[in-house]
Amino acid sequence: MDFKNKDVISINDFSKEDLLHILKVARTMEGRRDTLLKGKILATLFFEPSTRTRLSFASAMEGLGGKVLGFDSAAASSFEKGETIWDTAKMVEKYCDVIVLRNPIEGSARLVAEASSKPVINAGDGANQHPTQTLLDLYTIEKVKHKLDNLHIGILGDLKYGRTVHSLTTALSHFKPVLYFIAPPALQMPQTYLDELEKKGIKFIIESNLMKVSKKLDILYVTRIQKERFPDPIEYEKYKGFYKLDTSLLSHIKKDLKIMHPLPRVDEIDRSLDETEHAVYFEQAANGIPIRKALLALVLGKAT
Ligand code: CP
Repeated sequence: MDFKNKDVISINDFSKEDLLHILKVARTMEGRRDTLLKGKILATLFFEPSTRTRLSFASAMEGLGGKVLGFDSAAASSFEKGETIWDTAKMVEKYCDVIVLRNPIEGSARLVAEASSKPVINAGDGANQHPTQTLLDLYTIEKVKHKLDNLHIGILGDLKYGRTVHSLTTALSHFKPVLYFIAPPALQMPQTYLDELEKKGIKFIIESNLMKVSKKLDILYVTRIQKERFPDPIEYEKYKGFYKLDTSLLSHIKKDLKIMHPLPRVDEIDRSLDETEHAVYFEQAANGIPIRKALLALVLGKAT
């Protein structure tokens, strides 16, 4: 694929070869600080809160000599006065070379990409997709396991509303995994993703009790219950605190299990696990930098 001017909206838009190519370019971006993107401007349009995604995109851009403008909440933009995201995109494309968008509405990134002649990168659209998180997740798995194929991967937490696990499931389907979806029945992986796995012949197990499958796992990908996506706060109250991992887990896992989390965490992983050799979630967050440097360089035509 020619990545120049390409939008990054959904993992479905990328082949296995494309994903592996992005990881390869990311490896060349480790520790890189120079002027590769000098003269280029990134606009970060964040209509929802973010720590990692917004700051790591900004750090990636500035680390390669580019500049960053943008806003960090809907309230700080003219959306507050009734402006549509279509019109916002029509303005902002004139102010920058690449747009990174986070918005609570599913499909919003695709809409902004239609409005903008500049490349648009989806930094999370509602409960739908978070493709750049998935790329850094793959990058992390490859780093800690030295391979992507044939792994037993548990995905735990809010699989209904968690966008990171949706794009991750699609991406992992290229690598012949066995997937364990560990969630209360009401928060299980949407049927559309399970149908996709069935069609591709990927083995998956639906479970709510982590202990029943924990010994089989090479990777345990933990997510928080997505409070902000529940239409009914009473429903959220039922599931908050459903999973709380602590050092009692350690006698029920393989010696080389790695625990990942896209972060932020709430209470699903106790800090007592942070210092164990299993926890890789802070390293995972740091991997956002080489991945986002690679994506910016690719879509701006400064890497091939
Ligand atoms: N993982 C992730 O998307 O984190 P932020 O919401 O802080 O960007």
